[in-house]
Amino acid sequence: LFATGGEFLKGVVAMDGMPPADRIEVCFAGRSNVGKSTLINALTGRKALARASNTPGRTQEINFFTLAGSHYLVDLPGYGFANAPVAVVAKWQALLKAYLAGRPSLRRAFVLIDARHGVKEVDEQIMSLLDASAVTFQTVLTKADKVKDADRDAALDQTRRALARHPAAYPELIVTSSEKGWGIPTLRATI
Ligand code: GTP
Ligand code: MG
Repeated sequence: LFATGGEFLKGVVAMDGMPPADRIEVCFAGRSNVGKSTLINALTGRKALARASNTPGRTQEINFFTLAGSHYLVDLPGYGFANAPVAVVAKWQALLKAYLAGRPSLRRAFVLIDARHGVKEVDEQIMSLLDASAVTFQTVLTKADKVKDADRDAALDQTRRALARHPAAYPELIVTSSEKGWGIPTLRATI
């Protein structure tokens, strides 16, 4: 599935711009800067397929990537960006709600959590939205290369406690580092 590398299809800002829901789809959600775009690059083995950046809020559109003609990988705009204008946040929330509720081909959401920070209030809100939309989600810890083992384990514990409150949560977590390639084969196999 991942041998072909993946291709960028389009960036979407409204439901009527979505490609046809004609193949298996998974999306990547998470706070700004958590590493969504970098993870998509690591999965597809392409350095700059999804644009990664140090500037939080870089990915503003819902970006669709095709994989082997059978799958879509979907890079969602990051949330929790402190300086985003209220109107931008409201528009994004409306689009995200419409996407999660209205995409019959969406098989699973991956919710990315920074291994240094654990689950924050904004992550809980997304998880609640996924519960309400009946979209199964799986949590992926990112940037594991940046934490000591003890801190990562604390983040894992805290995350597991949070997941227990969410009926749409898949119980198994995947620990990753896009930098080191940790967890990437597991995540590929899951997709
Ligand atoms: P938005 O598009 O703003 O929502 O951000 P994003 O979630 O797509 O984050 P992005 O992939 O752009 O990564 C943000 C920063 O974190 C970049 O500087 C990446 O190089 C860095 N980063 C991402 N993943 C890892 C990782 O596994 N390890 C390390 N050390 N750095 C990472
Ligand atoms: Mg991004």
